[in-house]
Amino acid sequence: MSDAFVTPGGATLSAGQYDGMVREAHTNPEVFWLQQARRLTWQTPPTQASRSDFTQDVRIEWYADGFLNASENCLDRHVRTQPEKTALIWEGQEAGQREVLSYRHLYERVCRLANVLRRLGVKKGDCVAIHLPMVAEGIIAMLACARVGAVHVVLFGGFSAEGLAERLTDSAAVVVLTADVARRGGKRIPSKTTMDEAIARCGAASAVRHVLVVPVTGADVPMQPGRDLRYAEEVAKEAADCPAERMNALDPLFLLYTSGSTGRPKGLVHGTGGYLTWAAFTHAVVFDYKPDDIFWCTADVSWITGHTYVVYGPLANGATIMVYEGLPSWPEPGQWWDVIDRNGVTVFYTSPTVVRAAMREDEAVVRSRSLKSLRILGTVGEPISPEAWHWFHDEVGKGHCAVVDTWWQTETGGVMITAAAGCVVPRPGAAARPLPGVEAVLLDTQGKEVTGAGEGLLCMAQSWPGQAMSIWGDHDRFRQTYFTTCPGHYFTGDGARREEDGYYWITGRVDDVVNVSGHRIGTAEIEDAIATDHEVVESAAVGIPHDLKGQGLVVFVVPREQGVFHPSAVNTAVAAGVGRYAVPEKIYVVRDLPKTRSGKIVRRLLRKIAAHDLEGLGDLSTLADPDIVDELIATVKAQE
Ligand code: WTA
Repeated sequence: MSDAFVTPGGATLSAGQYDGMVREAHTNPEVFWLQQARRLTWQTPPTQASRSDFTQDVRIEWYADGFLNASENCLDRHVRTQPEKTALIWEGQEAGQREVLSYRHLYERVCRLANVLRRLGVKKGDCVAIHLPMVAEGIIAMLACARVGAVHVVLFGGFSAEGLAERLTDSAAVVVLTADVARRGGKRIPSKTTMDEAIARCGAASAVRHVLVVPVTGADVPMQPGRDLRYAEEVAKEAADCPAERMNALDPLFLLYTSGSTGRPKGLVHGTGGYLTWAAFTHAVVFDYKPDDIFWCTADVSWITGHTYVVYGPLANGATIMVYEGLPSWPEPGQWWDVIDRNGVTVFYTSPTVVRAAMREDEAVVRSRSLKSLRILGTVGEPISPEAWHWFHDEVGKGHCAVVDTWWQTETGGVMITAAAGCVVPRPGAAARPLPGVEAVLLDTQGKEVTGAGEGLLCMAQSWPGQAMSIWGDHDRFRQTYFTTCPGHYFTGDGARREEDGYYWITGRVDDVVNVSGHRIGTAEIEDAIATDHEVVESAAVGIPHDLKGQGLVVFVVPREQGVFHPSAVNTAVAAGVGRYAVPEKIYVVRDLPKTRSGKIVRRLLRKIAAHDLEGLGDLSTLADPDIVDELIATVKAQE
């Protein structure tokens, strides 16, 4: 078998070679994906690529007879060939805090922690929760879990105790890693005490046996004897070598919770072999990986983007990653440009929200920085407007960098649609073309395929190696959520438009998921949190366009008693039930919600009214109470 389609580490693909990959992946997917799997080092190489099936019970299985360990792929094989190469450059938010870890150093630190986990009784298949800010220990913890075969569950620092408790219970995590206190600019986040409260809330449902506390600020925090352990003391007791567990390609590597349109957050399960192949493949192809790159993906590790492009993709490829703890504009604007200049960052992968915020600053901020080390810029998480795209290209890229907008999801494991750097000509504002092996299709609401130019529901007709395998503990929910809207297809939840020549433009979620600054928020989660307030009869959360955040969250709330209800109660309920990050932009206290005669809330109307988009409200006579519409419009106007 030839290796024609496996780019050797660092060789730039030509547009022609890339097109060849697209064709090969389409016509010979088995051969193509077995070749791509050779990017990894397998204990037992797979003989079959996919045996996935989108019908009946739905089966997502890649490389089923292969065995490998993800941490060996990210560490050991590089330690053998390039032990002194820098794996990770970390900078803290306080001036002068910097740490540079070679692959050998990173390997040793991962092994010490892996030994601690084994000593604490963590076994293959157990879940371990990681609740840490952007410190090296977060990445070390993920790889240490992978080493011992534990399934990591990284939890966002912005979740409330209730939000954490829900995820701890669902995953049955046996060990938790948390920070003493995390910092976010001038704010301090009491990670340990929030975690204590979360575990207490789990009550008898808690499986947590130990909490390892990582010193981030060095603050004094309460320690529960027997349960809580100090990270630094524990790793110091262990050896710097640790044998890696033999894992089947289908063994889960991690769970990651994300929001959908209904019910509680779901823990998407990513398998080891398929996910890691996709991470390595996409990191190399989308970002034109070169061995001397300093690759900086600014995403938090609690996000899928952090999993795939801070940790697994670049480290599997033996790259040097940049990790920065601080905010872009604290204590003053320009921090991230300084990180780029200080460290010679070559690839900078961030979100449109960050770009929009930077555009608003004095242009002298970005113009006073060199940024000449950059060669590729990327964005993810929400659509980037042509205006922001051009600003990013001209001001940050100084006109000479490739800009890649990347469309993908927690469920897809890695980038799916993009203008791969150097291979596909970008079109500002468009997500561009599906990667090799991504069989994107557009379907109309009847499930009929849209051909040629057109618009429809964005679906995938075939599995790809990075596809999530299931929802933790609820495979039927997985099937129902993703495979029933368009039977025989994976349904993304997004709408898209396609041009005659095959370029895709993402039009946004078609379900009740709101994307606030790249944070995916299920409106049902918000409404559930508000419902815990007994003064509330019902509420509806909707998304509206927002200049800076992409979308803003707006809540309509019907109180039990008009006049006495204070809207701040909504904020309190959302902050407690979900987290401060999800507190709505605006709250409208109203008498009732627009409903059909069968009692279904007409969200389309609420979205339009909240966005002051009063044209084409449609036929209101089908509403149970058509008068409510004018009342709602008046309420929204009054708060303008
Ligand atoms: C949206 C983030 C437009 C989309 C990796 C998707 C985007 C959801 C883009 C997934 C993009 C992500 N252009 N929209 N380039 N990237 N989205 O799971 O609605 O946090 O369904 O994954 O973000 O968000 P998630």
